[in-house]
Amino acid sequence: MELIVLPVEAWAERVAGDLVERLRSAPDLRLCLPTGDTPAPVYAALAARLESGEASLERATIVLLDEWVGLGPDDAARCDGRLRRELLERVSPGPAAFHPVRVDELAPEQAAARHDDVAAGGLGLTLLGLGANGHVGFNEPGSTADSPTRVVTLEAGSGDAAVARYGAERVPEAGITLGVARLMASDEIWLLVSGARKAEILDQALRGPVGPDVPASFLRSHPRLRVIADTAAAALVTR
Ligand code: PGA
Repeated sequence: MELIVLPVEAWAERVAGDLVERLRSAPDLRLCLPTGDTPAPVYAALAARLESGEASLERATIVLLDEWVGLGPDDAARCDGRLRRELLERVSPGPAAFHPVRVDELAPEQAAARHDDVAAGGLGLTLLGLGANGHVGFNEPGSTADSPTRVVTLEAGSGDAAVARYGAERVPEAGITLGVARLMASDEIWLLVSGARKAEILDQALRGPVGPDVPASFLRSHPRLRVIADTAAAALVTR
């Protein structure tokens, strides 16, 4: 595991710069991307770099990490909408393909199965945020290393975040997520962590017991895991 700790002012630019580098060396990269408050500044920095011609998404494929079940297509919290607004609509050309989770057209189980088929085509680089409860994607506590892509019942805190932090019109009770097993099959994983409120859970994820109580702990057995944290998030890990 590679742990990179940066001052908050440099954090998003560093991640964006590293992404540019990857896209330059592998223009047809298959990228799995999360949404949330953590990656938002990374996408802003990445969009600016792509717009200034440092690299392009033209040949890249983007697979969404997860999605809420039960929020309308225009809900402010929708993961596909956020990724479009924060990155995809800000860059031209856009990616060769963008794969949202098909929650509007398909029943949840079918949408999960379809999305798993997409991810089974291979993921070159997966970016993940870290949930305050240790989740990655919507692999909530209780998830195992072999958890498949599936419909999950959300912990109360995860559903509440949709309303309180992402502006959802109502509290979603379920989500669809790429499973831990699918994420672990990615060639490379970058876990992005920022802010003091993630310090305790990051410490548990990286130094506590590996197991379902903190699903992010499973990432430690990935051969190419890079954790990119700001100083506040890394405060306990580097103690
Ligand atoms: P956040 O969410 O980036 O908005 O903190 C992370 C997560 O819950 O996965």
